[in-house]
Amino acid sequence: MYSVGISGVGSYVPEKIVTNDDLSKIVDTSDEWIRTRTGICERRIAEKDIATSDLCTEAVKKAIRDANISPEDIDLILVATVTPDMAFPSTACIVQKNIGANNASAFDISVGCSGFLYGLAIGSNFIATGAYDTVLVVGAEILSRILDWKDRNTCVLFGDGAGACVLQRCESGKGILSYDLGADGANGHFLTQPAGGSLNPASIETVNKRLHYVHMDGREVFKFAVRSMEKASKRALEKANIPLEAIDYLIPHQANIRIIESAAKRLKIKRDKVYVNLDRYGNISSASIPIALDEAFHKGYIKKDDIVLFVAFGAGLTWASVLLKW
Ligand code: ACO
Repeated sequence: MYSVGISGVGSYVPEKIVTNDDLSKIVDTSDEWIRTRTGICERRIAEKDIATSDLCTEAVKKAIRDANISPEDIDLILVATVTPDMAFPSTACIVQKNIGANNASAFDISVGCSGFLYGLAIGSNFIATGAYDTVLVVGAEILSRILDWKDRNTCVLFGDGAGACVLQRCESGKGILSYDLGADGANGHFLTQPAGGSLNPASIETVNKRLHYVHMDGREVFKFAVRSMEKASKRALEKANIPLEAIDYLIPHQANIRIIESAAKRLKIKRDKVYVNLDRYGNISSASIPIALDEAFHKGYIKKDDIVLFVAFGAGLTWASVLLKW
């Protein structure tokens, strides 16, 4: 088996900023409530004529440049998203066309906020076995399109954006050391977009009942998040036989500062070793971790040989962690 590492990373967020004060003009909320309960101050929202594949394409171009490869080098494109351009073709196929990755196969992954880490695990296996040399993993969302802008419980939490990375073989003993993926389908009903699929096809009735929007039991998701992030992190460490103290940097899914702080505390990781950008972007589901990675790496927070832990939870319900030596 070959060792697999990240050879390039890039991200893109729309320019339009929507602040908490802006939201307080459309729903019964306040900057104070959102900041103290979530840590979010503002989020980016895509303009109407922009699709998820457009955000992917911008992020991917940067990741490809960072890895110093050309689109023809890519063997596989994975796009993790719950807001694809459409049900089919996959957003990954649209990205393949947009960047001219003529030698790549392509498919989407639907794992909610855990999607990017599932993508790292899937993509790295194709390279570890020798099947492929270069895999592009993208996390991208336009969550603003599936939010109920009359529901203060959900619309204040999310934003839009994309992050991408290139996976390739690396020096033995470096790169992805272990991962832990999991699902708890029995509790999937706590976070859903109920209509638009085969169960509740789009109709005037589903639109009137607002079933095409995100429905969430925030308290249940919160409890699941705290439990699963600790469990997934410890399992990845165990699999790689690496102690908690060896972690140099934690890049968690950016959903709520209270969830992040609780996970860091349980893992005994100091706050200055945890990357947080949800104050600027809110929760961008599968795009949160690759955007945070892009910022953390290019700001110089992650250095050669650092042990980096990524951990996420999301719709499904699902969880995922990836342990990596940079
Ligand atoms: N502004 C003002 N008040 C609000 C708002 C708001 N935006 N939203 C909710 N409230 C009210 C509620 O109605 C409730 O009022 P009530 O007591 O009169 O009923 C009160 O605030 C407290 O609500 P709680 O749900 O107890 O608030 P909590 O402190 O739990 O925070 C939150 C809610 C932020 C949603 C939290 O539970 C959370 O972050 N949960 C996890 C959500 C999450 O991460 N989801 C993403 C999943 S990942 C994916 O795949 C997309």
